[in-house]
Amino acid sequence: TTTTLAYEPSDQVQTVAHRGAAGYAPENTMAAFHKGVEMKADYIEIDVQESKDGELVVIHDFTLDRTTNGTGYVKDRTLDEIRQLDAGSYFGEEFTGEKVPTFEEVLDEFRGKTGILIELKATYYYPGIEEKVAAAIKQRNMHLPAHHKIIVQSFEFDSMQRMDKLLPKVPVGVLTSRATDLSEAKLNEFASYAEFVNPSRTLVNSSIVDEVHERNMGIMAWTVRKQEEVQPLLDAGVDGIITDYPDYPPLHKAK
Ligand code: G3P
Ligand code: CA
Repeated sequence: TTTTLAYEPSDQVQTVAHRGAAGYAPENTMAAFHKGVEMKADYIEIDVQESKDGELVVIHDFTLDRTTNGTGYVKDRTLDEIRQLDAGSYFGEEFTGEKVPTFEEVLDEFRGKTGILIELKATYYYPGIEEKVAAAIKQRNMHLPAHHKIIVQSFEFDSMQRMDKLLPKVPVGVLTSRATDLSEAKLNEFASYAEFVNPSRTLVNSSIVDEVHERNMGIMAWTVRKQEEVQPLLDAGVDGIITDYPDYPPLHKAK
């Protein structure tokens, strides 16, 4: 595409607070996102889905069961129903009262304070979600590169091709946990619309990083949950580390 290249090589590795600082607070809540900012993460990572009545909400699982006191699919509950749930107490009593945030609420609270890595989850459940996400970003003038540090990513590649067309100046990323997605042919295909290839950290090595960089894309690895998982990623030369613990020591590339 004609997308201007958003990825710029740097010695500084970006720290991304996964689902907020999910090691320290209930994932995908305002408390977790504030914690990420407090810990000086370069980005917060958020998971976006849609309620039954078509509102964009921030939650990881397709169902409400694990992280709230509700049950059933997110897509089968209205925003009103979802907003009444407690999304904090599963993590700790002190977080009781945390709610499932809306996408717009997160944009309004955190734009200008930190980067936002926006993951679109299960887009096959939510036809048209790309247009809704694009509209919310545009309404806030966040689609112009100089204005805000945002990236949109997904495991659903067709959705990211669509996103690239809707918001040509917003960098998009493809997520994968499959080694077969890192073949030369696949990487060439990704390079035609994506600025980032973001694989599971278990797939990352320096030759993969070089292959991605050769195609002028960046690479962010997920999910770090232990301190000892950091150094191999730095040695491989990744551009970003998506971590539940964004306060791990300052990150600089080894090469
Ligand atoms: O940011 C990438 C990572 O979040 C993808 O996996 O399951 O934690 O959304 P998941
Ligand atoms: Ca995610």
